[in-house]
Amino acid sequence: ARPPPPPPPAWAPAPEIRTATWIQGTSGATARARALWSGDTLYLLAQVADPTLSEQSANPWEQDSVEFFVDPGNGKTRGYGDDDGQYRISFSGKTSAGGPLDPAAIAGNLTAAAKVVPGGYVVEAAVRLPTVTLRDGTLLGFDVQVNDATGAARTGAVTWNDATGRGYRDTNHWGVLQLRH
Ligand code: BGC
Ligand code: CA
Repeated sequence: ARPPPPPPPAWAPAPEIRTATWIQGTSGATARARALWSGDTLYLLAQVADPTLSEQSANPWEQDSVEFFVDPGNGKTRGYGDDDGQYRISFSGKTSAGGPLDPAAIAGNLTAAAKVVPGGYVVEAAVRLPTVTLRDGTLLGFDVQVNDATGAARTGAVTWNDATGRGYRDTNHWGVLQLRH
C-alpha cells in the first residue's frame, strides 16, 4: 500500500486523529485529521484515502465527502443547539451543512477548499465559532465522518468517535477537542 502522505507543513505541529469507528460497512475511505485554532476560528485538515471518487448521488452525504461536527460549548446534548453544526465538504470542495433547526445560521461559519491527490483527496476548512471564546484549555465537542461513495450509493461511513450513526441528530456521542497554545 501507498505510504500515507505527510500533512502540509503548517499542520505538522497539530496532533493527528484517525477515523476508525465504522457506522456503515467495515472498510472503505478513511481520514487522518488535524485541528488548529486562532482567534475565533477552528482550522481543520482531513487527508482522505479513497481511490474512487463520486458525486453521483443527489444527497450530499452519499457523495465522497468529509463531515466535521463542532459543538462550541461541548454540551453533549441530545439534539443540536443553535450553534452546533455538521459541516460537510465534498472531494470537489462543495459545502453543505446540517444540524440545528436553522442550518443556514451556522452554514455561514464554514469556508473550505478541497483537492484531489493520488489515492484520495485533501480537505481544509475554517469554521468560525462566534458564540464562544477560544482559549488555552477550551473544550469543543468534535467529530469527523468520512462518507465513501461508490457510484450513486454510499458504501461506507466511518467516524472518529460517534459509533451510533446518529451524529447528524445528536451531539452527545461526539468526541472532545482540547485547545492548546
Ligand atoms: C448521516 C446521514 C444523514 C445525513 C444528513 C450524515 O452524516 O450519515 O445518515 O442522512 O448526515 O445530513
Ligand atoms: Ca469513494
